[in-house]
Amino acid sequence: MPQNNAQAQIELHKELAPRYAYRYGFEFSRLFQEDWHAEMISHVPPAAERLLDIGCGTGFFLAELMDEHKGAVGLDISHAMLKVSDQYVDDARLVTADAEHMPFAPGSFQTVFCKGSLHHMRDHVGFLTQCREALEPGGVLIMSEPCNDNPLIRLARAILYKKSAHFDEGDQGFTRKGIVSLSEQAGFDVTKVKKYGVLAYTFAGFPDHLGILRFVPGNAWITRLFIRLDRLICAIPGLSLLGFHIVVVGKPRA
Ligand SMILES: C[S@@+](CC[C@H](N)C(=O)[O-])C[C@H]1O[C@@H](n2cnc3c(N)ncnc32)[C@H](O)[C@@H]1O
Repeated sequence: MPQNNAQAQIELHKELAPRYAYRYGFEFSRLFQEDWHAEMISHVPPAAERLLDIGCGTGFFLAELMDEHKGAVGLDISHAMLKVSDQYVDDARLVTADAEHMPFAPGSFQTVFCKGSLHHMRDHVGFLTQCREALEPGGVLIMSEPCNDNPLIRLARAILYKKSAHFDEGDQGFTRKGIVSLSEQAGFDVTKVKKYGVLAYTFAGFPDHLGILRFVPGNAWITRLFIRLDRLICAIPGLSLLGFHIVVVGKPRA
C-alpha cells in the first residue's frame, strides 16, 4: 500500500506506462494529441529556449517541443513513464523527480508546461509556487487540466477517479474559477483561459479505454472534423461548458 501521494503516483503510472504508449500509437489519436500540443505551444513566447514539461510522461509532447526548442527538459515522477519516452525523444533531457519538490534553481526556465499533471498533485498552490520560482521574470506557465465546470462531467470524473484503477482517489479536476484562483494564490497573473476538447477528446483521446474506436473506418478524418467542431464549441461561451479540459496561461506577477 503506498505511503503517500508520490509513491501512489509512481505505482499508478508503472501500470499505466504501456497504456500511454498504446494510446498514442494510432494515426487518429496522434492527430488529436498533436492538435492539443499545438494549442499549448501557441502560447510559448517566440524567443523561449529553456522549456520544462512537468509530468512529461512518455514524452510524446516533449518530442514535439524538441523539434523547435532543443533546450527542452522533461520531468516526471515515474521512471516507468520516462523509459517509454525513449521511443519518441532522441537526446532528451529527462529528470526523474517529484514536481512537488522541484530540483531546479530559481529562474531556470522561460516556459513551464503542465499537461495533465496538476490534478495528480496534492498541494496545488505549493506546486504552482514552485513553477513560478522555476520561471525567469517574464516567463510563462502553460497548463492544460481536467475541467469540472460542467456538473455532469464533474460527476462522471468523481466516479471515475474513485472507481478506476487508472486514477488515484485524491486526483481531482478543476473549475475555471478554482484553477485561476490557485494560480493567482501562487503569484501568477492569469493572461488566458480557454476550454479545450469535446468531441475529439472523447473520440480520439483514449483508444486504450475504447479500443473499438481504432477499427472505425475514417477515424482520422472524423478526428479532424471533431477538432474543428471543438474549436467552434469551445469559442462559444454557453457551449464551452462542454469542454473536458481547461488551458490556463499565466505569468509570474511582477
Ligand atoms: C495524465 S499523465 C500526463 C502525461 C503527459 N503529460 C501526457 O500528456 O501524455 C500525468 C503524468 O504526471 C506524472 N506525475 C504525477 N505526479 C507527479 C509528481 N508529483 N511529480 C512529477 N510528475 C508527476 C505522472 O507520472 C504522469 O506521467
